Amino acid sequence: MIVVTGATGRLGRFVIEGLLKKVPANQVAVAVRNPDKAKDWAARGVQVRKADYSHPETWDGVFSQGDTVLLISSSEVGQRRKQHQTVVDAAKKAGVKLLAYTGILHADTSRIVLAPEHLDTEKAIRASGLPFVFLRHSWYLENYTEAAKRTLEQGVLRGCAKDGRVAPATRQDYADAAVAVLTGTGHENQVYELAGDTGFTLPEYVAELSRQSGKTVTYQDLPPAEFSAVLQQAGLPKGYADVLANADEGIARGDLNDTGRTLSRLIGHPTTTLAESLAATLPQG
Ligand SMILES: NC(=O)c1ccc[n+]([C@@H]2O[C@H](COP(=O)([O-])OP(=O)(O)OC[C@H]3O[C@@H](n4cnc5c(N)ncnc54)[C@H](OP(=O)(O)O)[C@@H]3O)[C@@H](O)[C@H]2O)c1
Repeated sequence: MIVVTGATGRLGRFVIEGLLKKVPANQVAVAVRNPDKAKDWAARGVQVRKADYSHPETWDGVFSQGDTVLLISSSEVGQRRKQHQTVVDAAKKAGVKLLAYTGILHADTSRIVLAPEHLDTEKAIRASGLPFVFLRHSWYLENYTEAAKRTLEQGVLRGCAKDGRVAPATRQDYADAAVAVLTGTGHENQVYELAGDTGFTLPEYVAELSRQSGKTVTYQDLPPAEFSAVLQQAGLPKGYADVLANADEGIARGDLNDTGRTLSRLIGHPTTTLAESLAATLPQG
């Protein structure tokens, strides 16, 4: 069986749909905290197992010996060390064949505040002795494209990434890489740094947004504390605003950039570009 945790999230949905194109549904299982969200898959023959990262007892019997497992990182920042350890312990107890984990780009050197939870999860997986694959993700391209309409309305993008380069990729491309690993061979104990083929700076991003929309959008670089304050004024909680400002500081340093093109090699085609993704997001005509 191929078992995917966190499958009902936006990344997980792409992974399951990709798996169902490659393997019979009765070889796919999802471990989710809310089985109601997985009813559509159950109807197609996918096994749905109820398990919550925050409740270790719910992981008893979720995995079996020889399973291939994808642990999609929890979205509950700050809780993830403990939550992921629960999944690692269950995978070890069962004796799974492979444990793949979606972490963050350059987890061992990145200085962004999100990185240590991912690195500690990788360490826990290594300590389990299980064969592993680390799928280290850069930013999601949707972080930009889904905000594009609002950025256009405002006519300005604020940030604190200076002219640092970020190399995001779409959830679809990251999901396709996961599917390639889960259904392929020879990935044991590999660490994959996954990013878009061609990165961009935030000034380059607004230039592309302006080009496609026909409206001038500028980029305003702010000191990190000011950028966080702007995000808080827009309604974001302070903790989240600080994380985003910190990530932009990471982009300024290059923490979310990678030029190795490992993602396009794994999926067998170039990654979706910013121009393509924006064109698919912005109203046309
Ligand atoms: N690199 C980036 O730019 C970037 C951007 C966004 C997110 N991420 C991270 O990448 C991962 C996947 O992203 P995504 O877009 O798929 O996020 P998402 O849509 O928020 O999905 C998160 C998944 O985690 C599940 N989950 C959360 N807490 C759980 C718990 N206690 N027990 C069991 N399942 C739990 C959610 O279950 P429910 O469906 O029941 O809510 C959902 O399936 C997350 O860790 C997210 O934080 C990275």
